Amino acid sequence: MDRSDVADYKSLMRITRIRVVCGLSLLLLSCGRSVADHRDRGLMPMPAKIEFAAASLQVDGHLPIMIVGHSDARLQRAIDQFLQHLTAYTGQEFPHGVADTPDQAKLVIRCAGPGQLVQTPDEDESYSLRVTAEQIQLNAATVVGVLRGLATLEQLVQPGGNGFVIPEVSIEDKPRFVWRGLLIDVCRHWQPMAVIQRNLDAMAAVKLNVLHLHLTEDQGFRVESRRFPRLHEHGSDGKYFTQEQLRKIVAYARDRGIRVVPEFDMPGHTTSWLVGHPELAAAPGPYRIERRWGVFDPCFDPTREALYEFLDAFFSEMTAIFPDPYMHIGGDEVNGKQWEANPQIQAFLKRESLPDLHALQAYFNRRVAAILNKHGKTMVGWDEILHEGLPQGCVVQSWRGSESLAQAIERGFDGILSSGFYLDHQRPASFHYLNELQPTGGSPSDTRPARILGGEACMWGEYVTPETIDSRIWPRLAAIAERLWSPASIKDVDDMYRRLEQVGHALDAIGARHRTNRGRMLHRLAGRHPIGALQVLAAVVEPVKFYKRSAARPYTNHTPLNRLVDAARPESQVARRFQLEVRGFLSGRSADASRAIRRRLKSWRDNHQALMSAIRDAPLLEEVAPVSRNLQLIATLGLQAMDTIESDQQPGADWKAGVLAAIENAAGPHAEVDIAVIATVKTLVESVGSAKP
Ligand code: ACM
Repeated sequence: MDRSDVADYKSLMRITRIRVVCGLSLLLLSCGRSVADHRDRGLMPMPAKIEFAAASLQVDGHLPIMIVGHSDARLQRAIDQFLQHLTAYTGQEFPHGVADTPDQAKLVIRCAGPGQLVQTPDEDESYSLRVTAEQIQLNAATVVGVLRGLATLEQLVQPGGNGFVIPEVSIEDKPRFVWRGLLIDVCRHWQPMAVIQRNLDAMAAVKLNVLHLHLTEDQGFRVESRRFPRLHEHGSDGKYFTQEQLRKIVAYARDRGIRVVPEFDMPGHTTSWLVGHPELAAAPGPYRIERRWGVFDPCFDPTREALYEFLDAFFSEMTAIFPDPYMHIGGDEVNGKQWEANPQIQAFLKRESLPDLHALQAYFNRRVAAILNKHGKTMVGWDEILHEGLPQGCVVQSWRGSESLAQAIERGFDGILSSGFYLDHQRPASFHYLNELQPTGGSPSDTRPARILGGEACMWGEYVTPETIDSRIWPRLAAIAERLWSPASIKDVDDMYRRLEQVGHALDAIGARHRTNRGRMLHRLAGRHPIGALQVLAAVVEPVKFYKRSAARPYTNHTPLNRLVDAARPESQVARRFQLEVRGFLSGRSADASRAIRRRLKSWRDNHQALMSAIRDAPLLEEVAPVSRNLQLIATLGLQAMDTIESDQQPGADWKAGVLAAIENAAGPHAEVDIAVIATVKTLVESVGSAKP
């Protein structure tokens, strides 16, 4: 157990105590929504309507199931997976027992019909769930509704009774938004099948319903094309999904009620296409797969008819693999340099009376939209596709800000919000959680604003490998999933974090690797040394935010991502707890809070010595020495602040200014990480000299 686990264990014990007290009051009081907080193991997204009651159903491995109404192979597979998850949560076997009558059944599933043959955003995902001490009843109109209900049921399983129980509860649930997605960029860094599959499992657990696969980029063409094999043969370094694998992903996702929307980014971000097909480009080749990050010049030539013939044949091939009614053409970040420099393209602009390069991109988009339409697809693109003449029916995905979403909606297009949901920005879960999908102002309502289909989190691939990607997606994506599924009124940040912690553990149990891979990364860094001291440091640092990492050194997709910054979590939970403790201390000055704060500060202060022995032996840790030293300094200053506050001293203004300057100086960043507890130590110092409450 590491030190943060000790803290986790203590807070768990506190929660357990609260649970016991609540449990006793439950026996005395009739129950309602107010007790929901303490009777769920970590429900996320929170159902639209939920009412807990006092009893519990014992979950003991014997769960005979009866299906009433529609049943099919997908539903049976969903039940098998549900039982496997119960085994993962409880550590006991759950054989697939079938009951012949409702009386014998512990779980009765009533499913009215199969739902759509090809899932669309209109699929009915609603369900109702009733758990009593004797039986679970799950009702839904479609198999997808059953899937959503089973996902909720899994999250209700918790320690109790003789082992595990599901609390008595009544739930009516449906999503607020119909498009709840995750984009995975498999191009900047290749992400193989196992990554996609385990993330689909985790997505289903939090009721997400769209996997947006970013399949082509400057750095890689990740799809097998039998029609144009030079695309993947020359554009992928051999790292691409075969058509069989893509079909498998689509089927795997469908089993989980998740649509797969493929993105083929064009006319920019297309270097990897041009390696094998330079004739598509607006400037002569040859082209090589791009290894760096950024926005590059290579671009399709939209003035050539042969390009549209090529795309028609390519989309025809992809349509046979991806049944989803939507296809994404990217359309972002065309820098126009090749178009400006090409005299034939300039002549085309004059001939067609196109006033500028944006109008040329608009021309390209209209042509592509028509091709996709012919293949039965609705075109989706990033903000940049919004322009005069964009055919009605296209969908705009907004990444540059909610104003562009508002503009798209004003012009009659459906929109998807990704601005504020960029996971690669490494922002806290609370930031994403409070990113309301209400671009036109006004207070959010629990119904979906017109024309906003929903939102998508984006996991761009510059700084993630198969080893680290889960830690950038989870558990923060669960908070986004709640924003997209649950009523707008559910937005209590502290309660979100309470549940997020539990959801993080549950996702780990069903195969996500956001927690497990970190341990092995720290062991790799520490070499023959124990990882304890490194864990203490890793628990309080965060990777630098936004795109600051790219400024720190020249990255390519060959640069190893195996350093402390890669093992650090985007949001330090230790820092968050420390902040809450300090806030509590400053408002009440309790002795308990003081002890907890001092314990943490001392552990950070004393960590440096232990860590230095590992640092001396491990080349990859060399860069970490100043971070560790700065943590030591900051902790020492924090302890001084505590001493000063608790002895009610009034040091001169110089003391405070000097300490704050020293902290600022220690803020770094070094090694591309920020010390996440700095702001809270500053708060402590700033409060020195203020009156005791
Ligand atoms: C984007 O982030 N360029 C869509």
